[in-house]
Amino acid sequence: MANFITSILFFLFTFLSSSHAIYNVVSLGAKSDGTTDSTKSLLKAWALACSSAKPETIYVPTGRYLLKPVQFRGPCKNRIVVRIDGTLVAPSDYRVLGNSNSWLLFIKVTGLSVIGGNLDARGATYWACKTSGRNCPAGARSITFNYANDVVISGLTSINSQITHVVVNGCSNVMVRGVKIVAPDLSPNTDGIHVQFSSGVTITRSSIKTGDDCVSIGSGTKNLWIDRVSCGPGHGISIGSLAKDKNEQGVQNVTVKDSTLTGTDNGLRIKSWARPSNGFVRGVLYQNIIMNNVKNPILIDQKYCPNNRCPKQSSGVKISQVTYRNIKGTSATQVAVKFDCSSSNPCRGIRLEDVKLTYQKGAVQSSCVNAGGTAGGLVMPADYFFHLVYERNS
Ligand SMILES: *[C@@H]1O[C@H](CO)[C@@H](O)[C@H](O)[C@H]1NC(C)=O
Repeated sequence: MANFITSILFFLFTFLSSSHAIYNVVSLGAKSDGTTDSTKSLLKAWALACSSAKPETIYVPTGRYLLKPVQFRGPCKNRIVVRIDGTLVAPSDYRVLGNSNSWLLFIKVTGLSVIGGNLDARGATYWACKTSGRNCPAGARSITFNYANDVVISGLTSINSQITHVVVNGCSNVMVRGVKIVAPDLSPNTDGIHVQFSSGVTITRSSIKTGDDCVSIGSGTKNLWIDRVSCGPGHGISIGSLAKDKNEQGVQNVTVKDSTLTGTDNGLRIKSWARPSNGFVRGVLYQNIIMNNVKNPILIDQKYCPNNRCPKQSSGVKISQVTYRNIKGTSATQVAVKFDCSSSNPCRGIRLEDVKLTYQKGAVQSSCVNAGGTAGGLVMPADYFFHLVYERNS
């Protein structure tokens, strides 16, 4: 009883003392019918919340809200929570989003939480345009965070983005938690989450089924933590493509743990163009990963060069200190471990530890070119021991 009274008092106290407003977008004119443009109401809510000296909440109740491309700009005076119980839907004409780069863009905000919410970008007609070979707009990501700090994205569902679903660019201290991303297997370039030029990003307890990378990790990523993520279908968890530019920031300190890949085209991939670059990948730990029928479970590919745009070149990207620990499951191809590193910058400090990958139709194999490192515990494919250039210290 005493407890009960305490909590009531506590509730009343917080209620009366905080007195911060909740900006319900419906009160500001948004319509939950899925066909009336609600963009202005969301912008109005943002303007009110962003200019308030107190922490504020923007609330989107259940229902469907049609939104055009919209930019939520900071800096704001205090923290903002965007709580979404409803679904934000894109206009049916893909061209409305098509050239906007991003459908929902948060930019230069510090202290932002996006809680819940469904995003339906209705990408199918856009993909149809792309696969038909017609001239199509570049496409929009569904939600982008640019130069934002202290961000929480929790419980968001994003379906059928035109291109990448979630982008974290130039940010620090970002928590992505309990996110669900769904796009068809064959939808082009519908990556799940892309991170670049950011540090201190965590992606946890999320499920990502797409037509492209589950998580893609671009240059300038530092201190990235991924755990309890399930991927597939899609192209797996990918660092790269790097060496897009000659002058490029590196990728360092990436951890991928306790995750599962199912039916993906790649598992854990590091990929760079076979072109000059001062980029690097340093300090990557993959641990406790389950592969279910994955095409290239462990892959470093530094010879990436579609359309032969880099003849007779080798990748300048230096890859070192990459550990694969406790990786288990099935490979859909015979070569389960493939390191195809740069001839001018061989991979160093590659470590395999307790890796057990099997192939249904025969002996599982590995292939190592220009790769040096060590191995420990059980390693299957067993031929890995013959292929690796052993290093004493890595
Ligand atoms: C590496 O990143 C993790 C977060 O993923 C962080 O906790 C740790 O401090 C970083 N290590 C270094 C040496 O910066």
